Amino acid sequence: MKKEKQEIFFVCKECGYESLKWLGKCPECGSWNSFKEFNPNLKKNKITDFTSEVKKLNEISYNDKENRIITGISEFDRIMGGGVVFGSVVLVGGEPGVGKSTLMLQIAEKIASTKNVAAENYKVLYVSAEESLQQIKLRSERLNIKNNNIFVISETSLENIVKVIEEIFPDVVIIDSIQTINSDFISNPQGSVAQIRGITAEVIKLAKTKNITVFILGHITKEGDIAGPKLLEHMVDTVLYFESDTTQNYRILRVYKNRFGSTSEIGIFQMNYNGLKEVANPSEFFIQHSENLVGTVTTCIVEGTRPILTQIQALLTKSYFPQPRRVVSGIDYNRAMLLISVLEKYTGVSLVYEDVYLNIVSGLKTKETTIDLAVVLALYSSHKNIIVDSKCVYLGEIGLNGEIRAISFINERINEIYKLGYKKVFIPYENKKNINSNILEQKNLDLIFIKTIKEIDKIF
Ligand code: TYD
Ligand code: MG
Repeated sequence: MKKEKQEIFFVCKECGYESLKWLGKCPECGSWNSFKEFNPNLKKNKITDFTSEVKKLNEISYNDKENRIITGISEFDRIMGGGVVFGSVVLVGGEPGVGKSTLMLQIAEKIASTKNVAAENYKVLYVSAEESLQQIKLRSERLNIKNNNIFVISETSLENIVKVIEEIFPDVVIIDSIQTINSDFISNPQGSVAQIRGITAEVIKLAKTKNITVFILGHITKEGDIAGPKLLEHMVDTVLYFESDTTQNYRILRVYKNRFGSTSEIGIFQMNYNGLKEVANPSEFFIQHSENLVGTVTTCIVEGTRPILTQIQALLTKSYFPQPRRVVSGIDYNRAMLLISVLEKYTGVSLVYEDVYLNIVSGLKTKETTIDLAVVLALYSSHKNIIVDSKCVYLGEIGLNGEIRAISFINERINEIYKLGYKKVFIPYENKKNINSNILEQKNLDLIFIKTIKEIDKIF
């Protein structure tokens, strides 16, 4: 007898890993009890029709500029790779309350005020499956949105949403949020893996066949039964995550995937009483204390293509534990431990009786090794209780022999540093040959080249 093909499989709701068997622990992301049953047979019918067109590659014309909508929110356009691509599907994930709906309503307004090639305003449809029309109106008043090209529906049924789309034929559709949409054709429970995937697949088909740009909003839940946006990452063109630092009122929009641009860009916004405001000069924003402080060192990281000045802070205190504490935030923990060892070995200081707290200010996160020199200086400064010149910027990766190694984007970083009025920069000696002559000729910019951390005393 022919063995029946297995149709049911299991999907990890945290990372989307698929398995034929139920597993207690996900081999991909390590989550426990995260597997949910997925039965593709339950999806009996199709909502949209799809006919494929075959073309030779060189017959397809594509003009990147013409195929994008520039919203005018430059933080957003930049991270999208220069505007929103027509017909693309963008997933906007984030924890509840971070400001996804606010951001999208503001973007909706900007898009609806932009004109297409036929000089008509773009039509935007905002589908809210979470809030009533009155609630959306209230928010739009708070955001001072007066545009009358934004269509709004408060609807949770995919079939009804598709009907509205076919009726008004918008250029852009915003779905807020994917977890609260349901469909009669997909009989899995609302919020389940199968439901969310099935609905997203239909939405993508709709977007691609009708050349509609779709933003799908999704809540990230640390725990709980609702499948997260992670499951959808591979299906969509662009994945954005909106993150917040709970202690501050700023938000970072991070690109995790982009079929039409770079993934290392971030956009920085500030949440005000009347909506999100772009932070155009993040360096000025992140450096709020310019006085000389013990354990605080200024450095420059590059996010995507943009240099951002920031500060590393270290606090070293006498330890009361048998094993001193090492608390690191915003910086890679293992990298920090490596730098502590390098500092101990090559400068003769010992941190063995001290607790170490290391932090990058304002809740930024970086994996860049350019901050190594600043980290080591912050540790040294706190250990010795001596101040570091806050008018000076320190750049350099540190190797295991204490050598200061060359860094990337050296000219871009120095230009940003100079633009913000800093006059003194410590730079790896190895980078000397890469520095543009116009920077070297700047009379009021003091570039100091260093070779090794053994010269640490000379820095102070
Ligand atoms: P919201 O966009 O509803 O978040 P999400 O859609 O990600 O769940 O934003 C919610 C928070 O933002 C809410 O706590 C109130 C705050 N907020 C402001 O501070 N200013 C504003 O102008 C708006 C609209 C919201
Ligand atoms: Mg919302």
